[in-house]
Amino acid sequence: MLKIAVLISGGGSNLKALIDATADPDFPAEIACVGSDTDAPGLEHARAAGIPAFVVRPRDSDSREAWGEVLAAAIQEHHVGTGPHPGLVVSAGLMRILPPGFVRAFSPRLINTHPALLPAFPGAHAVRDALAAGAERTGVTVHVIDEGVDTGPVLRQAAVDVRPGETEAELHERIKQLERPLLVQTVREIALGELALPGAR
Ligand code: GAR
Repeated sequence: MLKIAVLISGGGSNLKALIDATADPDFPAEIACVGSDTDAPGLEHARAAGIPAFVVRPRDSDSREAWGEVLAAAIQEHHVGTGPHPGLVVSAGLMRILPPGFVRAFSPRLINTHPALLPAFPGAHAVRDALAAGAERTGVTVHVIDEGVDTGPVLRQAAVDVRPGETEAELHERIKQLERPLLVQTVREIALGELALPGAR
């Protein structure tokens, strides 16, 4: 059984989709813990499901690297990324760039979901940026995290057509409707060994 740690900053609807999927005993992964950089409302999904949840605030550390070290240690306490089982860290709406030391600690067993068709529209405002650029199509990308910003190897993508006059919130919600099952399916395939993580031994 693959042990995963999920990292969030917001409402956690992708986390909720993973919690619902892993409630099925046949699902090949379990959520060992949920972490956040802030008091994210989505942490309630974890608490309601009896999953350990913690907050590691950047302001309580002297540097980004130090924050990453505390976050990595909190995850490893739940036996993700330690011992004989490699585990998987899933960034599902974490709105912080993970520092290089953190990435090296878990790479390549560290994935992110991003609301655009990377390499288009990386960064924190992907949906807004796609609308501002007049994109006719956008979507969602699940990718391995490397030391860049949304630059790691792409694992899976799904596209949506942008509707005329659509707001950022409307488009983001339609993207999320594709994103949740895509993330669940990607985790399932990684857990089953059906999807290889680039660079994995
Ligand atoms: C998701 O759409 C995720 O792709 C995005 O935040 C949303 C979180 O939604 N992440 C980023 O924009 C990272 N750059 P959720 O809290 O409802 O799962």
